[in-house]
Amino acid sequence: MRIINNLDEMTETARGWLAGGSVGFVPTMGHLHAGHLTLVQAAHQECEISVVSILVNPLQFDPTEDPADYPRNLAQDLQLLNAANVAIIFTPSAEDMYPPDFSTYVTPSGPLAERLEGASRPAYLRGVATVTTKLFQLVRPDIAYLGQKDAQQIAVIRQLVRDLNVDISLRVLPTVREDDGLAMGCSNVLLSASERPVATILYRALLAAKALIDSGEGRSAVIEKAMADLVASETMVKLDYAAVCHPDTFAELAEAVPGTLLAIAAHIGKARLVDNFLWTTDGRWLI
Ligand code: PAJ
Repeated sequence: MRIINNLDEMTETARGWLAGGSVGFVPTMGHLHAGHLTLVQAAHQECEISVVSILVNPLQFDPTEDPADYPRNLAQDLQLLNAANVAIIFTPSAEDMYPPDFSTYVTPSGPLAERLEGASRPAYLRGVATVTTKLFQLVRPDIAYLGQKDAQQIAVIRQLVRDLNVDISLRVLPTVREDDGLAMGCSNVLLSASERPVATILYRALLAAKALIDSGEGRSAVIEKAMADLVASETMVKLDYAAVCHPDTFAELAEAVPGTLLAIAAHIGKARLVDNFLWTTDGRWLI
């Protein structure tokens, strides 16, 4: 395992890729859990060289959020990545990624950038698009591995890869959940002991929406209200959104049809949690 924290060293290393075979890349913000590790394992299995980046990207935090509060545990992350036989860990500093004269941003637009996460966290999607573009330039992978958990992030990255002619394939892997259904995520550490069992409400609301659809209910308004009502039954939880939308454009859909995303976000105490189920165009459920 080699650790690279210098940008020029990463660029230099990536210049030599062709000789080594295919490169699989997993961008992360660290504090790794089993969700991250499924991506890492897939990259390791499917590519000759696996690269994992760890950077708490300041650009994707809103002014109300402080990147310094984001959980970090680099020593444990390195241990886990070493055990997973990752070839290269790229740990650039925020200062090197964004020097004082940094002034070029990748800014998504349209409903994809403006709805749901775009409405609630104005800096997030632009920060993700900008850092991902930079990381793709630095690491030059063949395949990037992303988690279904962050559905709008995937849509934004897919769009930027198309729009900016980035020669990288994207592989999306299913959401890894705790035994009780809670999607794994770094924000879960912010939940108190009494909030933790309540946090499954996002998963339960999605299950209820899926059950409605499976029973023949297609009207988005009815499905969204069912999710919102269920969340409202938990007094500790403040719903941000419960939406039936297109998984690529994030446009509102009047009817749920195959090729629909059910997306939900809510605040519980200090944590803001997101989750989603995808009903694929060929009628499967990715949950
Ligand atoms: P981070 O939250 O660390 O997530 C890194 C990757 O792990 C993302 O692709 C995310 O979707 C995936 N992931 C997180 N939880 C998961 C789970 N429970 N199951 C499966 N995959 C999961 O997402 C980011 O970092 C950043 O926005 C980043 C893309 C690195 C840009 O800064």
